[in-house]
Amino acid sequence: MTETEPVAFPQDRTCPYHPPTGYAPLRAARPLSRITLFDGRPAWLVTGHDTARALLADPRLSTDRTHADFPAPTARFAGVKNRKTALLGVDDPEHRVQRRLMVPSFTLRRAARLRPRIQRIVDERIDAMIAQGPPAELVGAFALPVPSTVICALLGVPYADHDFFEGQSRRLLRGPGAEDVMDARDQLEEYFDELIDLKRTQREPGDGVLDELVHQQLRDGELTREELIALSIILLVAGHETTANMISLGTYTLLQHPDRLAELRADPSLLPGAVEELMRLLSIADGLLRLAREDIEVAGTTIRAGDGVVFSTSVVNRDEDVYAEPDTLDWHRPARHHIAFGFGIHQCLGQNLARAELEIALHTLFDRLPTLRLAAPADEIPFKPGDTIQGMLELPVTW
Ligand code: HEM
Repeated sequence: MTETEPVAFPQDRTCPYHPPTGYAPLRAARPLSRITLFDGRPAWLVTGHDTARALLADPRLSTDRTHADFPAPTARFAGVKNRKTALLGVDDPEHRVQRRLMVPSFTLRRAARLRPRIQRIVDERIDAMIAQGPPAELVGAFALPVPSTVICALLGVPYADHDFFEGQSRRLLRGPGAEDVMDARDQLEEYFDELIDLKRTQREPGDGVLDELVHQQLRDGELTREELIALSIILLVAGHETTANMISLGTYTLLQHPDRLAELRADPSLLPGAVEELMRLLSIADGLLRLAREDIEVAGTTIRAGDGVVFSTSVVNRDEDVYAEPDTLDWHRPARHHIAFGFGIHQCLGQNLARAELEIALHTLFDRLPTLRLAAPADEIPFKPGDTIQGMLELPVTW
């Protein structure tokens, strides 16, 4: 490890699809650096590709967010430590039990079966944009409602409640204050508490993932009600916010690379590779958090028990030992092995679904609106700050 001055983490991006320019010293000092969190606390930042994959698979790193020493990237996150997060916030063996319950609902085959439904949802949104526009604000008209409708259909959550849960998810992830995060969590807990009651008493059970869980697991006692509520919250929140950001930022990035976009339009067989490369380049979930439970020897140094460990996906996914010209959008490279969906036991449960949604959403958008372009200067379009999942705040477009 090369000794450098600790760098503040996280920082805001200057271009929405490149890592913050302030991370340049971190990129130079791979695979591990010292960083300073918002409250002045030091932590480790993992920046090298091989080291990241080794450590993300290391059971000595915990994701128990309720632990007093768990690193917090923002003040609002620090304020909500007493709430348990399902899946992403539990270690084995508890994690294994929860994950095993969920895996059958998120297989590649399940995602493939959902494709016609996703296509219909995407087409309906584009029909509505065409009927009303141009111009349009793409986050509100397309990028958010598509994954939101899809996850509702999959889980068995009424889409009619989308204003409520989209608003609460926004507060949960972006605050602004710790009280917003706590209150959003309370509201979502109450919402699912009622929805579970409703599902238990329904004479005709629905066909959503939550219906299955309520009827099989809760009745058999494999899951407590609290666990079921916590699972519902993470599935709903992780299931729409992230994909929405990938759709908005992916569209923006493609529009900023017209030659690449033309190539993709001419040959849709490039689509799966393009989605993988966009995932790598954009690395929207930047800053995965862990706590060292034991001392860990790595890269010639020792991470001590109690230290916070953060993974910068945007830096790891641009490790030039693995990706030639890592700052270039190039889907002819093998982009696989990126860690934009994480790695190890917590690797994204919804990745098959996310890939299906991104392929269908991006392909259909550019296919049906061939003259799609930005309706404002690219550098004036607002995007999200560095302390949350990256994406566009708004995306004014015309065609
Ligand atoms: C393009 C969109 C998405 C991105 C970039 C993304 C990213 C990630 C990342 C990086 C992790 C690992 C976090 C860590 O290790 O700290 C993760 C975990 C997770 N994701 Fe996704 N995700 C996306 C879409 C989805 C969707 C559609 C769902 C559907 C429910 C979902 C559900 C989850 C869940 C439940 C976990 C926790 C898994 C566990 O701890 O076992 N994600 N995601």
